[in-house]
Amino acid sequence: MPDFVGAVDQGTTSTRFMIFDHGGNEIARHQLEHEQILPRPGWVEHDATEIWERTRSVIATALNKANLTHGDLAALGITNQRETTVVWNRRTGRPYGNAIVWQDTRTDRIASALERGGKGDVIRRKAGLPPATYFSGGKLQWILENVPGVREDAEKGDALFGTTDTWLIWNLTGGPDGGVHVTDPTNASRTMLMDLETLDWDDELLSFFGVPRQMLPSIRPSSNPGFFGTTRADGPLGGEVAITGVLGDQQAATVGQVCFRPGEAKNTYGTGNFLLLNTGQELVRSKHGLLTTLCYQFGDEKPVYALEGSIAVTGSAVQWLRDQLGIISGAAQSESLARQVEDNGGVYFVPAFSGLFAPYWRSDARGAIVGLTRATTNAHLARATLEAICYQTRDVVEAMQNDSGVTLDVLRVDGGVTANELCMQLQADILGVPVSKPVVAETTALGAAYAAGLAVGFWSSTDELEQNWNEDKRWTPSWNDEQRAEGYAGWQKAVGRTLDWVD
Ligand code: G3P
Repeated sequence: MPDFVGAVDQGTTSTRFMIFDHGGNEIARHQLEHEQILPRPGWVEHDATEIWERTRSVIATALNKANLTHGDLAALGITNQRETTVVWNRRTGRPYGNAIVWQDTRTDRIASALERGGKGDVIRRKAGLPPATYFSGGKLQWILENVPGVREDAEKGDALFGTTDTWLIWNLTGGPDGGVHVTDPTNASRTMLMDLETLDWDDELLSFFGVPRQMLPSIRPSSNPGFFGTTRADGPLGGEVAITGVLGDQQAATVGQVCFRPGEAKNTYGTGNFLLLNTGQELVRSKHGLLTTLCYQFGDEKPVYALEGSIAVTGSAVQWLRDQLGIISGAAQSESLARQVEDNGGVYFVPAFSGLFAPYWRSDARGAIVGLTRATTNAHLARATLEAICYQTRDVVEAMQNDSGVTLDVLRVDGGVTANELCMQLQADILGVPVSKPVVAETTALGAAYAAGLAVGFWSSTDELEQNWNEDKRWTPSWNDEQRAEGYAGWQKAVGRTLDWVD
């Protein structure tokens, strides 16, 4: 058995390839960003061809850095930004247009029409999701209705749909020359098209969006000894490697954080925040604005479900300070700037750039900065941005506790923003529970590697993976209850100001 497992992490802003050893330690990585295409307010697109090119290059470069070849890899895992919708032609391999990204809100009319037409409850019951712009179904409907030729080609079976896992696997395994058209149930559970109980595409849901079944990939277990396919010898790995693990990125981080028991949860701080609570084999229906989603399905074992609190804008609010306002030059500076003030000075920033996701699900919301006075400075705004990341997490933790009855005694965290010490301290203060970060903070790629490695016996069981988890850092709450309650009340008031902003 080779000594390593590789994983592609195709994220919202970049694509990385990582190589791990048996202890779950990082051996090498390479990462490249891709363009964020913003053609109109509320629209967010990616060029899927650019993403495939970036993927080719990060794989080749990381292998090169580590002085390894495909023969050193026991298996390959894929993890990806979820919901982002790509449609391409089976014969030419070319996408029909740019991918529509999960943050894109162009389908708000499609989402509200579903609710008005009484289909919302069916989607909630079967797919575990509220009708929202976030998920793939409406994006695919938009492409079928607006991009010339797609509907006809889809009926003929020539136009293929996929999230970016499917797109990359199709290219890695052969493209127009025999690519495999597959996904896993965690990705499929984000489309509004899959029934959470049967783990198959559902004809009634497909009819809501006018989606022809023949354009959809086959759904295979996330950790799959029967393979998602084998990489082509003339591809970026330079040889054949079995693709045996596929997970949406937030589910992958849950696996990377070894949250294998019901009641265990993790929060990933990336472009957005995604808090997932493992609910075991029980499909818990949320009454408080959370999503019911697939956590993972390993081989022929029963599927494991999760409750998810998805927050659209957290790390990307820090990028907004840098790119749109120009008040910081890099993410790290958000911490030093925010440290210049003792508190938020009464300022709250609700970054509802894509409406509000969990637990509100209000696509009519838009961002607001409230509580400004003549004394407000950039430092207060930086502090309010970090607090917004933590208050949004508090909103979903409250919802999760109400839905599941599980009280968190510690929050496991990962993702880029966890490098911000002030933000993590604020998170512990605002939640009133300790926040804990593992040594290997790249839990997303690690989780995909785990899924792939489990399938081929590189790791024997989830018990073995639990041994790999070690705490790196813990932040404990320093605020008293009164400070916490006062701060949260201010946040809730600010959220109220962002609603009903667009028709
Ligand atoms: O649901 C969207 C999520 O999968 C995106 O994650 O880390 O690529 O921003 P990330």
